[in-house]
Amino acid sequence: MLQKPRGTRDFLPDEMERRRLIEQRMREVSRRWGYREVSTPDFEHLELFTMKSGEGIIQEMYTFEDKGGRPMTLRPEVTASVLRMYVNEGKVFPKPIRWCYFADCFRYERPQKGRYRQFWQFGVELIGADTAGADAEVVMLADDVLRSSGVTFDLRVGHLAPMKHLLSDLALGDQRTVMACLDKRDREALAAALDKRGASHLSDPLAALSECQTVAEVFEIAGDVPERARIEETFALLDSQGIDYRPDFGIARGLDYYTGMVFEGFARNLGAENQIIGGGAYRLAHLFGGDDVASCGFAIGFDRVMVSIGDFALAPETVIGVVCMSEARERGLEVARAFRDAGVRAEVNLMERGMGAQIAHAAKTADFAVILGKREVDAGTVTLRNLHSGEQQEISLGEAVAEVAQHGDR
Ligand code: HAM
Repeated sequence: MLQKPRGTRDFLPDEMERRRLIEQRMREVSRRWGYREVSTPDFEHLELFTMKSGEGIIQEMYTFEDKGGRPMTLRPEVTASVLRMYVNEGKVFPKPIRWCYFADCFRYERPQKGRYRQFWQFGVELIGADTAGADAEVVMLADDVLRSSGVTFDLRVGHLAPMKHLLSDLALGDQRTVMACLDKRDREALAAALDKRGASHLSDPLAALSECQTVAEVFEIAGDVPERARIEETFALLDSQGIDYRPDFGIARGLDYYTGMVFEGFARNLGAENQIIGGGAYRLAHLFGGDDVASCGFAIGFDRVMVSIGDFALAPETVIGVVCMSEARERGLEVARAFRDAGVRAEVNLMERGMGAQIAHAAKTADFAVILGKREVDAGTVTLRNLHSGEQQEISLGEAVAEVAQHGDR
């Protein structure tokens, strides 16, 4: 038996319906904030992601050469694609631009619960607003979108400036290495990286950054940074709206393009792979031939949200099964159409079996059987049988449709 590739999943109908429901809620919340959906290709030129994504992601990419010999990759994330699209055709739109997306991404990671090689992200990108209001909007929207899904989570908001200020004596490449250790929360690797660069004295202040309870404490540790006013304004806005978050200036983020505010969210009931959202302020457009525009966004790990909220009951849907003698197949199709036109899910029997076997099948898959025997076909009626109660009545097609539609409304 052939199996699906490692790190991928199949979704059966119940799970697909749950996923679509949650996805739809996320879209709806984003729409109300003014974020309209966009879509970009599943694969891109490799260099789009090698320019600024960071070593971690580059090593995990599904890269290939197309038949023309061009280096390509399946997208490991969507932000770079959206900014490429902005540079290609989005510059005509008034700023700020508010876009959202729901897309699958591919990373060759070691699969485990909540970590897949194909996974879906729901994300937003706010392009062209370089203000505390923009940073705060993206965090508030993230909070709203996550809440709509029913997941319980802890939000942490930080800013890269204090950390970069502490690391400013290190070369840029060394800063990246240290920040990658911070991002992975790998204390041993962090200590080794600092030691190697003669910067062990930074170990304590870096650890303290993530322990700060207030923004004021951050500047006591890192000293004054030029971004201070912006940081204070962003956090004050979040506080004014009662957003439930914790300051965390130890957030480094795994991708290299972030420049300012950064934030992450963690589901309360997941194990090691509990990060369900990551985002922040960044600059990418200038690398792709566009203007150096400030942007801010986030991506939610949709699959992790689904694991966290678990299976939930779907709203029951009324189903009818058309049971019909073989000579009346066309009438059966007409009857099914009348129900479908009224929004009812109608399934005709395709197995060419007797009426008794058809009714038995309908009893397993439907709520009502609409029976078309000789008498009903001659009289132009249908027999509507409630498959739960066994009650049945011979009525007109219109009456039957009305009865079933009313049942669905109950
Ligand atoms: P990221 O942190 O790399 O950020 O990914 C966002 C989220 O995708 C993670 O928090 C996690 O929930 C989910 N995720 C990542 N890898 C996997 C995986 N292998 N399996 C399941 N879920 C996974 C970004 O991708 C940025 N583009 C976010 C962003 C948008 N920043 C600004 N705008």
